[in-house]
Amino acid sequence: MNRHHWWRDAVIYQVYVRSFLDSTGDGIGDLAGVRAGLPYLRKLGVDGIWLSPFYPSPQHDHGYDVADYRDVDPVYGDLDEFDRLVASAHRLGIRVLLDVVPNHCSSAHPWFRAALAAAPGSPERARFHFADGRGPDGGEPPNNWHAMFGGPAWTRVTEADGRPGQWYLHMFTPEQPDWNWRNPEVADEFDQVLRFWLDRGVDGFRIDVAAGLFKHPELPDSPDPEADARTRDSVNPLAWNQPEVHDVWRHWRAVCEEYTARDGRERLLVGEVSVPSAREHAKYVRPDELHQAFFFDLLGAPWDADAFRKVISEAMQDIAGTGSTVTWVLNNHDQVRTVTRYGEPAPEGSGLGAARARAAALLMLALPGAAYIYQGEELGLPEVVDLPDDVLTDPIFRRTGSRARIRDGCRVPLPWSGQASPFGFTSGAEGAKPWLPQPDYFAEYATHRALADTRSSWHLYRDGLQLRSALHQLGEGTLRWLDTQPGVLAFARDDLVCAVNFGTAPVPAPVPGTPLLSSGPCRSGELPGSTAAWWIDGS
Ligand code: NOJ
Repeated sequence: MNRHHWWRDAVIYQVYVRSFLDSTGDGIGDLAGVRAGLPYLRKLGVDGIWLSPFYPSPQHDHGYDVADYRDVDPVYGDLDEFDRLVASAHRLGIRVLLDVVPNHCSSAHPWFRAALAAAPGSPERARFHFADGRGPDGGEPPNNWHAMFGGPAWTRVTEADGRPGQWYLHMFTPEQPDWNWRNPEVADEFDQVLRFWLDRGVDGFRIDVAAGLFKHPELPDSPDPEADARTRDSVNPLAWNQPEVHDVWRHWRAVCEEYTARDGRERLLVGEVSVPSAREHAKYVRPDELHQAFFFDLLGAPWDADAFRKVISEAMQDIAGTGSTVTWVLNNHDQVRTVTRYGEPAPEGSGLGAARARAAALLMLALPGAAYIYQGEELGLPEVVDLPDDVLTDPIFRRTGSRARIRDGCRVPLPWSGQASPFGFTSGAEGAKPWLPQPDYFAEYATHRALADTRSSWHLYRDGLQLRSALHQLGEGTLRWLDTQPGVLAFARDDLVCAVNFGTAPVPAPVPGTPLLSSGPCRSGELPGSTAAWWIDGS
């Protein structure tokens, strides 16, 4: 029999460090704040945390622009504080995953500065994608690719003689130049970076843009640049999902196995993989590649029983078919929070979005596989939709002029206690300002209040997590769909039955008796609208 691999059914809590808890009073969360919040997370019952990037960075994309992969930005603490955090987490039985960003770095990274100072064709430039422009004086970008956050994917540099020169590639902002993974120096550098943090005791890595890294070797024009520009998904087939990337994941897996062989502790690699289909996605989690990859189709599905059933079935078939487990996500720091997403177009204050978000959470926790919870999700926090333009920091806003796609609204600092901002988020003097303003209604969601109210979302998540571990590796195995009326999903996992009513009117429950757990008030024999419930089927 296989020994149990902890990550297969783990529930990991995503800590967006700048917005979790501030220990210094500067209005920005930090590593000491995360350490102070560990007992809260232990109470919730998560298996591990994933820390968003805390490395030295000019913060053009809140740390996804890394200037030094082996240190802590002073805003967040230092390496000693990091070591204390890992030690405290481990004492509490919480594993620690770091966010590693291998597709691009910051334009402030010393290697990129060296590349700018060096001549065209130099070894320094060969670590990135520098190319001559097109057109009579090289004034046109080398190809027609769009950057994910708007505008062209190329920026022209000024050469040492003061003249306009070559262009460099950046699939996100110009402050995030893409590494050239065809250069072995880049692969070696990341090998060392992984080992640096593994030596400090981390339990694994969340890998940013894991379908990126390699570009088509000739950097040809994209067949459909307009489609690339319209979506934030990685659709340009020449810039993403190149076959060579799989060799990198095989190597990184071998590095992790090397550490496991030394001390018996299994390390986890979980990739942020945005590719066109569940079948393509499955390639990233072949047995010698990444352990897991986020499955975003659930996050992308509208509140609709058929849509949910389709994405769950595809994931089970394609991803679970590889021997890995599906890694479910409903929220993260890049997406509109579920409460708001599922609430639209319901009238504000109807509570529909909140009820659906709770139901979706119970559904996710009943599925086979691992689950990721984004901080604040357990509090039922809605998206902050009315941040004034002058506080917005997401580069997408600046680069596209679009409020529709911005990510600040899900990154507003967490409320912990009290009736007014900063709601215990910052331990600074009265009046210390969180880096994004918290709305007054955050008082209702503060953790102190949530813990004291057994009807809160926090209790639902906590109870779901507890039952999940009591029900013996609920994350393993498969599911069996049960027949239901339209608009209702029900599935069995051995003797556990989970049902979700996507409609608004009550339906007969699929199992007699009172549920073990439900996302809202639930009478025996009935499943109300916008509600999920778990039963043990004794029949
Ligand atoms: C995905 C991260 O989740 C997002 O926040 C970031 O902006 C991009 N990758 C670029 O690193």
